Amino acid sequence: MHPTLPSSSGPASASGPVPASGLILGIESSCDETAAAVVRRGAEVLSNVVASQVRTHAPYGGVVPELASREHLQNIVPVVRTALEQAGCSLEDLDAIAVTEGPGLAGALLVGVMYAKGLAFALNKPLIAVNHLEGHIHAVLLEAKKQQQTLAQPTLALVVSGGHTHLYLAEETQATWRYKNIGRTVDDAAGEAFDKVAKLLGLGYPGGPWIDWLAQHGDPRAVPFGPITVKQKPYRAPQQQSPRFLFSFSGLKTAALRYVQTHAMAQTIAARHQTLAEIADAKPADALALCNTETLNLIASFQRAVVEDLARKTFAAAETFHSASIVVSGGVAANRELRQHLLAEGRRRSLPVIFPSLELSTDNAAMIAAAAWPKFVAGDVATAALTAEPSLSLG
Ligand code: KG4
Ligand code: ZN
Repeated sequence: MHPTLPSSSGPASASGPVPASGLILGIESSCDETAAAVVRRGAEVLSNVVASQVRTHAPYGGVVPELASREHLQNIVPVVRTALEQAGCSLEDLDAIAVTEGPGLAGALLVGVMYAKGLAFALNKPLIAVNHLEGHIHAVLLEAKKQQQTLAQPTLALVVSGGHTHLYLAEETQATWRYKNIGRTVDDAAGEAFDKVAKLLGLGYPGGPWIDWLAQHGDPRAVPFGPITVKQKPYRAPQQQSPRFLFSFSGLKTAALRYVQTHAMAQTIAARHQTLAEIADAKPADALALCNTETLNLIASFQRAVVEDLARKTFAAAETFHSASIVVSGGVAANRELRQHLLAEGRRRSLPVIFPSLELSTDNAAMIAAAAWPKFVAGDVATAALTAEPSLSLG
């Protein structure tokens, strides 16, 4: 399948005429959200539909890959249909289909990739492969366009989610985005650490929103979690990745576990877990009365340590690489303290810091359709050989 770009009277591009409508259907299925969206010319979100699998995975305290694939299979057709309906367009109106090729869970990715390939083939429309991480960066660019903000470049992108903690230097030259990976986690992703510590404390899943909400009620300095440093040697980081910009959250998670053990908190945790399990659709507010001061202080101190680490390394990288702005994306970008801390520090340094809306922070397909637009304009179209790439990297 090598579909050609449809011809029209739109503006010319290096690869040929670009249709004025510029409607791209984005499909995202890399983890536990089945998502579809229609975005016009990489800037105007006409629909953005997400079917979350949180309820399915919650009893296990993490995503179960087999269950995720099965749910994607069930959800993909209705989700795409709803996205088209909400956008007020038909499959024939589309100019291209974009899909996440990786990174992510192999079985989950395959559902989206195979569906998108079938659709593009049947409709004879171009198929565009998008890296999920690039999608997260474009979520912020989409937000900036929505607010008619121009993004000062190069920009430093912090992508921080349940599966990733990455720093990229990103720049647009001749309508093409280029990325250089300058930092990453050597073990757990930040969101994964939030989820694991929440589970350790008998809270709900995913843990990030629980810790975010409960942290407001604790003393962030009560538990003296120190700064996190990563030594380069054992990890053999590529040369361009200075250990100063490497993240590591597994030590912090272990420190939280030790605290729980040494302060004999097991019984209260088990009781809290049991009580929350008996509440239908339990929310973080339900946990407040079930947490004593010691627990709330631990939660607030853990979050403070993660936020300080993300902020310290992000601003150090911004300074080192002379970035003119910072964009933050991924599920953890929804975190209140992270937003406040980075925005305040950005103001102090006169460095613009941009977050996407909460809707665009977590996994969605609008960001995939937006990231596909410059590729579509450049004629960067996928072939029939496209398949899921679970370990795909960026930059
Ligand atoms: O980007 P995302 O939806 O999916 C992945 O690609 O992983 O991110 C999900 C992650 C989960 O680990 C979740 O706990 C975390 O984002 N998260 C948060 C918050 N909201 C979601 N972490 C901290 N604070 C939040 N408010
Ligand atoms: Zn993601």
